[in-house]
Amino acid sequence: MDEHKPVLVDEVLAALTVQPAGLYVDATFGRGGHSARILAALGAGGRLIGIDRDPDAIAAGRVRFASEARLTLVQGAFGELATLVHAAAGVTQCQGILFDCGVSSPQLDRAERGFSFQADGPLDMRMDPTRGEALSVRLARASFDEVRDVIATLGEEKYARRIAAAILRAREVAPLTRTLQLAELVSAAVPVREPGKNPATRTFQALRIWVNDELAQLRSGLQQALGLLAPGGRLAVISFHSLEDGLVRDFLQRHASVDPALASLPVVPAAAQPQLRLVGRKQRASSEEVTGNARARSALLRVAEKLPRSAA
Ligand SMILES: C[S@@+](CC[C@H](N)C(=O)[O-])C[C@H]1O[C@@H](n2cnc3c(N)ncnc32)[C@H](O)[C@@H]1O
Repeated sequence: MDEHKPVLVDEVLAALTVQPAGLYVDATFGRGGHSARILAALGAGGRLIGIDRDPDAIAAGRVRFASEARLTLVQGAFGELATLVHAAAGVTQCQGILFDCGVSSPQLDRAERGFSFQADGPLDMRMDPTRGEALSVRLARASFDEVRDVIATLGEEKYARRIAAAILRAREVAPLTRTLQLAELVSAAVPVREPGKNPATRTFQALRIWVNDELAQLRSGLQQALGLLAPGGRLAVISFHSLEDGLVRDFLQRHASVDPALASLPVVPAAAQPQLRLVGRKQRASSEEVTGNARARSALLRVAEKLPRSAA
């Protein structure tokens, strides 16, 4: 029940090229699957900082890794990556950073966290339930346009207008407080059925991304990772849907090229030089991995290496 099968673990380890005495950051600790492998590759002098915004993840990590002195666990959002790393280790540089985006299996499996359209729970969906507003609170207040736009954009749901209208109609009758209440009304509003897919899937994804501000978190986390990586340091990012992957791809490509606004200058200033080198192409899980772990099906890994700043 409290398990999370990590995805693309061998690929992540190969990407990070762990140096035994290096300092690494697992920005999405979860249940520590990737962290365990990073620790196994680190030497006695190496260090790992595990970050998660979910207090349950950090509490479970403290139990699982109780005797692991090389690991520092930090509860916080990776949108504040630089501050969290600096506070945890007193450093401003590290040799590698991993982002394994999205939610963990325990978050989805525990009905009381409010992520599931299959098991009834409070309509919450916050990864950190100690901050921000539960989904029920945001949905009670949001305008029709906002709900429709969130579902259309973050869920890529073509029936967003119908679903938003159904949500607004329902909340006139009674507050929306339960996950199954929402799942049922979304199901009733979606006119077609995709085989093997719950009709509420896209809407739940959209609302989860909205409540947790996931895309802004990722943008900020990546930007700070760029500043934290030492020359030669590696960045590995696993995404699970096209909005995330598009953001990661654009970020990496932008920082792996000369700033186009300054590219035509006779001497390209150091600040406009690429800061990253892309490492390989995007990677997907093998069919064997997908057979053993359905979550791996949509996982995409992108890797980059921090370049030394030229003196130009
Ligand atoms: C896919 S799971 C990571 C699983 C982990 N790699 C493992 O092997 O167990 C994603 C985790 O990232 C956390 N997370 C998502 N967004 C975050 C953010 N902005 N800041 C910190 N943690 C975040 C979630 O709470 C969740 O525990």
